[in-house]
Amino acid sequence: MPVDDLNDRVVITHGNNTATILKHGATVISWVNNGEEQLWLSQGARLDGSRPVRGGIPLVFPVFGKQKDEHHPTAKLPQHGFARDAEWELLGQTTEDPVGAEFGLAGGRSDWPYKFSLILSVTLANDKLAMAIDVKNEDEQEFDFQWLFHTYLRVPDITDVLVTNLAGQHCDDRVVNAGYTEKAPAVAITGECDRMYVGVEDRTVQVLDKGRVLFSLARKNLPDVVVWNPWDKKAEAMADFAPKQGFHEMICVEPGHAATMVVLPPGGTWSAAQEIAVGGEISLQGG
Ligand code: BG6
Repeated sequence: MPVDDLNDRVVITHGNNTATILKHGATVISWVNNGEEQLWLSQGARLDGSRPVRGGIPLVFPVFGKQKDEHHPTAKLPQHGFARDAEWELLGQTTEDPVGAEFGLAGGRSDWPYKFSLILSVTLANDKLAMAIDVKNEDEQEFDFQWLFHTYLRVPDITDVLVTNLAGQHCDDRVVNAGYTEKAPAVAITGECDRMYVGVEDRTVQVLDKGRVLFSLARKNLPDVVVWNPWDKKAEAMADFAPKQGFHEMICVEPGHAATMVVLPPGGTWSAAQEIAVGGEISLQGG
């Protein structure tokens, strides 16, 4: 079967390629393209539903980070919200080639006072993994939220990696606690990196390894891009980050709507998508 429901996870198969989605968080925990794993997953990641997964592609909703405004409806939520720590349901297969499947999460929760529904679609093709999200306001009042695909990409060696197409964009740098315009035509990661590039133009962001394009990331309705690597000390401090030197083999490039909130009226639906291509070919249009 191209879409196999294995109780706690779903495996999507397209030719030689597979994507494995843990129902906990609807987290893509593996993407094997032509026999090679493309995502980084911590060896210490908990896959039993006891906490969000460290690695793969956790989903951040309805708040990015920890809400600082104590009066905001997301104030009681944990860092990065609840979507990555909730049990999603497989809704079924949607397309055959590329192979697509949909996952749903709906609530009513005690820690966020709105009725909502989320539909995530995961689509697998040769050299491509696409993910699209619909957020629907099922409530009688408007709500606001942030969304982000917290994508952990596997790289051979972080010291050989460059992230391109961010030059000229505004960067909020949480490591040096400053905002500036990115000058580098290609961003190198040489230590802890926690940056949000805000309102990134409609460009494909690429991850290079020794000058070769490893990944191309296209975005739709996701104006912000977080680039994150914890480096040695932060990796050491995370109980579920293993091996501790694993930061050498990962980079998070995280398309999101995370610098500002999306405001959604009653009955409204907001849609966004990311597409990751191995190498340089991309088909999704829009920033
Ligand atoms: C990134 C944030 O998106 O996620 C970082 O920019 C954060 O500040 C990182 O440390 C990991 O977050 P968490 O909650 O998964 O440990």
